[in-house]
Amino acid sequence: MPATATDPKDQPKGGQATGAAGAGQSTAKEGLQDVIAGRTAICHVFGGDKEKNYPGRLIYRGYDIDDLAQHATFEEVVHLLWHDDLPTRSQLDQVKQQLGQNRALPSEVIDLMRRFPKDATPMDVIRSVVSTLGLFDPEGAVDTTEANHNKALRLTAQMPTIVTTWHRLRQGKDPIQAKPSQSTAEAFLYMLNGEEPTDVAERTLDVALILHADHEFNASTFAARVTAATLSDMHSAVTSAVGALIGPLHGGANEGVIHMLQEIGEPEKVEPFILDKLKGRGARIMGFGHRVYRGTDPRAQYLREMSRQLGERQKDLKFWTMSRNIEEIMWREKTIHANVDFYSASTYWALGLPTDLFTPIFAVSRIAGWTAHILEQYSDNRIIRPLAEYAGPWQRSYVPIEQREQTAQEGKKS
Ligand code: ACO
Repeated sequence: MPATATDPKDQPKGGQATGAAGAGQSTAKEGLQDVIAGRTAICHVFGGDKEKNYPGRLIYRGYDIDDLAQHATFEEVVHLLWHDDLPTRSQLDQVKQQLGQNRALPSEVIDLMRRFPKDATPMDVIRSVVSTLGLFDPEGAVDTTEANHNKALRLTAQMPTIVTTWHRLRQGKDPIQAKPSQSTAEAFLYMLNGEEPTDVAERTLDVALILHADHEFNASTFAARVTAATLSDMHSAVTSAVGALIGPLHGGANEGVIHMLQEIGEPEKVEPFILDKLKGRGARIMGFGHRVYRGTDPRAQYLREMSRQLGERQKDLKFWTMSRNIEEIMWREKTIHANVDFYSASTYWALGLPTDLFTPIFAVSRIAGWTAHILEQYSDNRIIRPLAEYAGPWQRSYVPIEQREQTAQEGKKS
């Protein structure tokens, strides 16, 4: 039997004891704040500084998100994230062709999806289908670098199809196949609605996909890297990432924004609603705040402007106006900036997209970043295994089951 340490000071590692048994200062970094948990050459977030009025900045492999949002396409960004540089014309043609040719889901997976409960949320469906696709991937059990690149390509190509197939199936409609020549944004809107999107809708979605494609060690990407670092397979790592994205503190926030705007209802109700919400202990206004950005989120300005332009075209600026007002109140009351989720909500709303597809659209984009990070993790791997600060009792003696109730009652009395 291994020896049992009886005193915190005898513990071989892990810093001082705290909590129930220890008296030392906590050394744990709650939420891993400010911890550099690994190296990456894919993406960097410069947090900025609100006191000095320095805006946040975001680069993908050295290219500023401003440059990419204004000039690139999502497919160029996908190539950049996977292959370390922007593609040449022929490389771009190749990545577009490969994505276009790999969008279809295996018929067995579609048959299975037909049996899912019709009220399953699209994010739960994505999580289940990504996992299932691992069973049908032609290189599922192969873990060479080439096979992993192929899996990254297939998953990125299939993600829009998962979302649109589910949206049609749950309405009792048959799925529509994209045309191989269509871009990701175009294919997504086409498979969703069954008609060619307008240029404005396609470019708006394309820019949104560029803005969401990667974000360093965000929660879902980190989850993917933790799973990949055990040398588990790509489908498992992406399944972990999808699970993390579902949460309202991460990808789920954009849906929360629309629910909030709908609940507020009218522009004149914004101020009392937000002030009242902020009174609540630990209250969170969805679409605000960020772990890394202290200055502005560089992605938000593009979504704010696209949301305004779409609203103007449709002569309906209500949600945009309410959103601007919320932004002003949040700055005045909490000096907190809007994040990427805030205006992506009103942008997608103005595109007529169903609210519960907002987070799935995030996944349609972020799959590029997830897979780039998984490939990077595989290429220079060490298992990710931090320490925990122990906050429980240090030693207890085994109590036979017959005596436990009595011991528990005695414990309650004392
Ligand atoms: N609404 C109100 N107050 C907020 C908000 C918010 N959305 N976000 C942060 N704050 C306040 C907190 O109350 C806290 O103030 P205090 O110091 O006076 O108590 C301070 O800002 C720091 O907040 P933390 O929760 O410590 O920040 P943390 O880094 O842990 O969390 C997070 C970041 C999860 C993004 C948080 O800001 C939040 O919950 N935002 C709302 C959800 C959201 O929009 N998520 C999307 C993030 S972007 C993305 O994942 C794509």
